[in-house]
Amino acid sequence: MTTLSNTEAYSLLSLSLACVGVLANTLQGDGGAPLTASIAFSGLAFSFCYALIRWLGNAFIKRGFKGRDLCKLKQTEIPETMGAVCAMVYLFILIAFIPWPFYKDIVAATSGGGNRDVMKELDQLETGRLLHRFPHNKLASYLSAILSLQSIALLGIGDDLFDIRWRHKVLIPAVAAIPILIVYFVDFGVTQMVVPTPLRPYLGELFDLGWLYYAYMALLSIFSSNSINILAGINGIEVAQSLVIALLIVLNDVLYLSFTPYPHPATDSHLFSLYLLLPFIGVSVALLMHNWYPAKVFVGDTYCYFAGMVFAVDGILGHFSKTLILLLLPQAFNFVYSAPQLFHIVPCPRHRLPHFNPRTGLLECSRAEFKKPLAKPIAEGLKLLHRLRMLDVEIDEKGQVVSSSNFTIINLWLVWFGPMREDRLAVGLLAFQTAIGLLGLFIRHRMAMLVFTQDNW
Ligand code: UD1
Ligand code: MG
Repeated sequence: MTTLSNTEAYSLLSLSLACVGVLANTLQGDGGAPLTASIAFSGLAFSFCYALIRWLGNAFIKRGFKGRDLCKLKQTEIPETMGAVCAMVYLFILIAFIPWPFYKDIVAATSGGGNRDVMKELDQLETGRLLHRFPHNKLASYLSAILSLQSIALLGIGDDLFDIRWRHKVLIPAVAAIPILIVYFVDFGVTQMVVPTPLRPYLGELFDLGWLYYAYMALLSIFSSNSINILAGINGIEVAQSLVIALLIVLNDVLYLSFTPYPHPATDSHLFSLYLLLPFIGVSVALLMHNWYPAKVFVGDTYCYFAGMVFAVDGILGHFSKTLILLLLPQAFNFVYSAPQLFHIVPCPRHRLPHFNPRTGLLECSRAEFKKPLAKPIAEGLKLLHRLRMLDVEIDEKGQVVSSSNFTIINLWLVWFGPMREDRLAVGLLAFQTAIGLLGLFIRHRMAMLVFTQDNW
């Protein structure tokens, strides 16, 4: 596991060389196409991440970054916190990419004592800016995204090191969001939202949320990071669900880019989103290949926070945070469903991942045992959920609720469909998530015309 096989080494090497070739090609002529460069950088991100996960695994174990795979017969220790490797590769790739979308602007703004633009003929001015090329001021947003993602990586590694308590660690993403919030304040400061048509007589066309908008952005970071972290516990699910979300956002971006005439403000936002997401997909695929059943590495809280933050930053700076929430619906449902345990209305064990049955080799739903009798309204609530097939509750002969399945959709899936192997469980949940996401995107673009006067294609 610690070295690359010959086939792997040659494949990664050829892929890297091909990507470097494409990158060199984009530099020919007029400074190239950043979107092509971004795809090539994502290929490099994949190769680096894949190789580094292999090479660093043992070093991570030696330093104590390791975990037991609880859903296996032989619970061997494997490296944990591999999300840190992803984050590191991702951030360096994002930094190396800067010259592609911003190159011309940096040159124009810095050489010739700032007089260079003055020397340009009027008809040259617009030809200088190809599609995919950003104005200089977008660099501030881009750098703030990098700063926020760097902060979340640091805080995530801190959590994996010190196992911070739940009530403290939920706030970690809000702290990491500070860089983008500050730059957003300085740069755009746009805190209005478009009001749906039926409410316009009361609120006007635009409604200014003021500081609430910043609270909303901070909450979005908290939600998207933590909701991925609690939809976890079986091999591959953290990374694969993030990949599904990333691919759905990419689909949404590509639809925008194909249908909006250029120049249009939405074009830049969606390109920006692609530049952040493509390398993320690169590192995540490399990680998934090691984390899929049977897992050879764990991703750690670092990856869950990092992935959630990539989405939050992408949605905020790309101005599509409502669409993002739509794509996080399965995670949102899991969050709401988990609430009784998260807020300790019913007891919450340290781990809620499914229970491995060594006799059958299959996963069954794990249970929370209630040693003390539950308060009557809570017990009745659980019984009602049981009748609705939303929970599996065990009742003793006195009618007391003694245990229930844990409140996660992973366990709910097992309640519905019975015991199954770990990878089938993951595939089922992912197919469900993809279907909901596609439906969400479809409804979003159909319904937008009903509640707003126009879709922002
Ligand atoms: C969250 C969940 C917890 C779940 C855990 C699993 C809440 C409130 N917390 O806690 O219920 O059990 O994630 O990630 O919902 N592990 C496996 N197989 C896997 C992935 C993880 O056995 O495929 C185990 C390993 O022992 C690993 C540990 O889970 O070391 C990681 O748990 P950690 O991420 O620290 O848990 P939390 O994020 O605190
Ligand atoms: Mg975790």
